[in-house]
Amino acid sequence: MGETTLSRIVVLASGSGTNLQALIDATQAGTLAGQVVGVVSNQPGAGALRRAAAAGIPAVLLPLPLADRHDTAARLAYDRRLADAVAVFEPDLVVLAGWMLVLSPAFLDRFPSRIVNVHPALLPEAGEATVPTSEGPQPTLRGARAVRDALRLRLPVTGATVHWVTPRVDAGPAILREEVAILPGDDEASLHARIKAVEHRILPRAVMLALERVRCESERTPALLDRSVDRGAGGSCRSKKGGDGVAGGDRPRLEVRSGAR
Ligand code: GRF
Repeated sequence: MGETTLSRIVVLASGSGTNLQALIDATQAGTLAGQVVGVVSNQPGAGALRRAAAAGIPAVLLPLPLADRHDTAARLAYDRRLADAVAVFEPDLVVLAGWMLVLSPAFLDRFPSRIVNVHPALLPEAGEATVPTSEGPQPTLRGARAVRDALRLRLPVTGATVHWVTPRVDAGPAILREEVAILPGDDEASLHARIKAVEHRILPRAVMLALERVRCESERTPALLDRSVDRGAGGSCRSKKGGDGVAGGDRPRLEVRSGAR
């Protein structure tokens, strides 16, 4: 990845693709120095596929039959096929933007330290059970029902997080996150809409930070990358002097902001 070469981003999306659109818009506006070179979806008819086509971005549909979802061998085979489809695009970074399938090491190991995810809740720095918020510590909401869970638990705030992907679902280090207040009368749709507005703002910036980290790591370790590499967000390529336990660079750059109230 040279200074003048645009970073290559591949997006995996199962849904409407508004986060994909935010990335496309940011690359076209020049606020994100990269290009979305490929989109992969598991859902026929996904809005993400239409958005890719509209932007002239190659897109691949790789459906996973329902019957295969809980069949370990079939899931492994799918993750390998998926990794092959993504690898064709030679990504610097893989972005899970509303990707609804849990990925096994058969996929993750093909792109070590190069996968980020956007999640519709606040996630902690590194897999803790609670997350600090402006209203005090709250339970970490992982999984596909995070928006519903925030309402069910009557939390005062929730938010959006972009984080590095590790084998434990929604537990990798946060890159950027921002709070969203839960308002009286909110239902899942209204709350999710405000969370998505925040996602669209933080995702391009988090992708930029992640690409910077990938670039730094590839300068340090040209034969990218082993699993001990810190997956925190990037910044400069300065090597770390302090004893904070974070290997290979600056601490994850966390931002918690109160927004979208
Ligand atoms: C987002 O809220 C994301 O956090 C979650 O799925 C949703 C995808 O939305 N993982 P879209 O398809 O990008 O509109």
